[in-house]
Amino acid sequence: MPVDPKGRSEPGFTRHAFICGHERAEGAARPSCGPQESLDLMRQIKQRVRQETDENIRVQKSGCLDHCEFGPTCVVYPEGVWYGLTSEESIEALLQHLLTGEIDEEQTLKLE
Ligand code: FES
Repeated sequence: MPVDPKGRSEPGFTRHAFICGHERAEGAARPSCGPQESLDLMRQIKQRVRQETDENIRVQKSGCLDHCEFGPTCVVYPEGVWYGLTSEESIEALLQHLLTGEIDEEQTLKLE
């Protein structure tokens, strides 16, 4: 079985976060996450994760996640938990989730 430079012999991540970086033109029918500095936020979250753990956790940008009105939008797998990263509390909850696996349900995105 081959091993990659990070010592992995199987694909996949302990937790995998996708943060939307999609950008729509001004005046578009729906808002988008890119103009809300979602990629800067993604870089900050990525850096924090790297600083705080050696675990196999991936944070990356995505295209539109189709929950545009709640963005910057993020989803974490394998749990399939969604966040609207609109407050310090929601950003900290995402970090906590990524670093420990603990989910603060009060900070997750809920569509009612
Ligand atoms: S533009 Fe970010 S979820 Fe659609």
